[in-house]
Amino acid sequence: MAMQVSSLVDSRTRAEVEAEVIADYRASSPRSAALHEAARRVMPGGDTRTVAFHAPYPLVVQQGSGCRIEDADGRVYIDLLNNYTSLIHGHGHPDVVAAVEACLPTGTAFPAPNTYQTRLAEILTERVASVDLVRFCNSGTEAMMNAIRAARAFTGRDLIVKMEGGYHGTYDDVEVSVHPALDDPTAGPEHAPLSVLGTRGVPQNTVENVLVTALNDRESIERIMAERGSEVAAVVIEPVLGSGGMLPADREYLEALRALTLEHGALLIFDEVMSFRLEPGGVQEHFRVRPDLTTFAKIIGGGFPVGGFGGRAAVMEQFDPLRPEPLWQSGTFNGNLITMAAGVAAMKAYTPDEVARINALGERLRQGLREAVAEVGIVASVTGYGSFVGLHLGVDEVRTYRDAAAVDKGLARLLHLALLSEGVYAAPRLMMCTSTAMDEATIDEVLGSVRRAIQQIRPALVA
Ligand SMILES: Cc1ncc(COP(=O)(O)O)c(C=O)c1O
Repeated sequence: MAMQVSSLVDSRTRAEVEAEVIADYRASSPRSAALHEAARRVMPGGDTRTVAFHAPYPLVVQQGSGCRIEDADGRVYIDLLNNYTSLIHGHGHPDVVAAVEACLPTGTAFPAPNTYQTRLAEILTERVASVDLVRFCNSGTEAMMNAIRAARAFTGRDLIVKMEGGYHGTYDDVEVSVHPALDDPTAGPEHAPLSVLGTRGVPQNTVENVLVTALNDRESIERIMAERGSEVAAVVIEPVLGSGGMLPADREYLEALRALTLEHGALLIFDEVMSFRLEPGGVQEHFRVRPDLTTFAKIIGGGFPVGGFGGRAAVMEQFDPLRPEPLWQSGTFNGNLITMAAGVAAMKAYTPDEVARINALGERLRQGLREAVAEVGIVASVTGYGSFVGLHLGVDEVRTYRDAAAVDKGLARLLHLALLSEGVYAAPRLMMCTSTAMDEATIDEVLGSVRRAIQQIRPALVA
């Protein structure tokens, strides 16, 4: 294990530290434990969202306000996860609350257009230069499904190329090579990865329609396009890989994807479900690369279930029912009033100044984390862009999925629990993000907690 600590006087073993951290966690969350047991009797695993589970049991969160949340035992945490980056304003932003309260008594959903969805569509098309037309759905998963369908229909081709480690939701065709094990021989070599089903239950032949390539590896995508380019409907990428490790693509790589897709008549899809928060016009504004289609979700719903996809008029017009053979896209709650009203309020409050401010908070957090790990001599890497932050323990440089997958996962889980005991709520894989409900003092408070949590698990950091 690639861990070293400069001076150690603590004689506890890693197993002892682990037992202590778990005992502390259990002692401080008895009500969550009991509620979890009750939930397990009616839901497998006690929840409806696998990513939210972690051992020994997840905390039950009762309420949130601004950047803080409170668990069932009355303990308060700084929320550095923001429902996996979706709550750009933290909890209970007054404009969002007012917008929803105004809507609620008048009805929540009608099988008819409403002015809120037009307003949200205007906001997105004004902000994102590559988006002429947009449609809404209820999740990022659906957004990806519809964007891929649009690309396949537009090109008349079936093949999709995605990044190894890229997470695009739970639609079958993107459940490929999401987190293949490093020792899985079927995943192929680093520079020529092979498609691996992400979960049981997805048809085995899905891998025939979905090729994978390594982030920032130009030769790999050039080879794929040279061999199969005429069959490719779309190349799909998050310009900053989110769940895959908060890893920004290189600008040159995105430019190469744009050139290659144009050359081979394929579409380029940017999944900005997470990264839309990183710049006012999505992170594509920073990279100055225009995709054909962009998918949205998370922040655009103001905290309510949402998805959206949009792009070039020629591609999106396929969904116009007045066209011959239009594409069918429907959903009972698509564009419902509550989500759309909350989204409009949230997006209006997310001004370019606020984007820049929380990006700077992200940089302050990244810098502070680098200092905190350097102080105790831990081998670690801090990744991210703007308001996205990833902490990877046990690896000194992370540029690709395979780098990120090589982290010491046990240690990450330990630090995650120790952080909870110190009042900081991050993802178990140590993914974090800032929100407009935070300021510099919040970040400094987080960093104080991080230092104490690291001290608590210090002996575990030794090989
Ligand atoms: C980049 C990306 N795409 C798509 C999705 C799927 O979104 P949803 O969970 O709303 O279905 C996610 C969810 O985390 C995501 O991070």
